[in-house]
Amino acid sequence: MGFQALEKLHQLHDGYKRAFRVGQLELLLIQEEGRVYLLENRCPHMEAPLTYGRVQNGQIRCPMHGICFELATGKCGPATPGSLRAVKTYIPVYEGNTVGVVL
Ligand code: FES
Repeated sequence: MGFQALEKLHQLHDGYKRAFRVGQLELLLIQEEGRVYLLENRCPHMEAPLTYGRVQNGQIRCPMHGICFELATGKCGPATPGSLRAVKTYIPVYEGNTVGVVL
C-alpha cells in the first residue's frame, strides 16, 4: 500500500487528536508535548473508538471504561487485567509537508 498521508504538518499542535480511516484501518493521530503518536483507534477491551479519550501524561484513557494506554507503546496501565492486549501503534512517517503511515 505504501505511504498514506494523513495530515499537513502545520495542522499539528499539542492537544491535536484526529481519527482517520485508511482502507479498513481506523487510526488516531495525536500530538502531546511535541511528540506525535499514531495508534489503532480501537480499544482492545471492547473495541470502543479512542477518539474521545482523554490524553494526559503520555497516556490515553478509553472513554468507555477508563482503561489507560501508553501512547508510545500502546500498553495498558498496571491496574488493568493481565490478558488485555496493547493497542497497536504505528510509526508516524514524515514526507514533504505531511505526516502519515506506511502500510
Ligand atoms: S472499551 Fe475501552 S476500556 Fe472498555
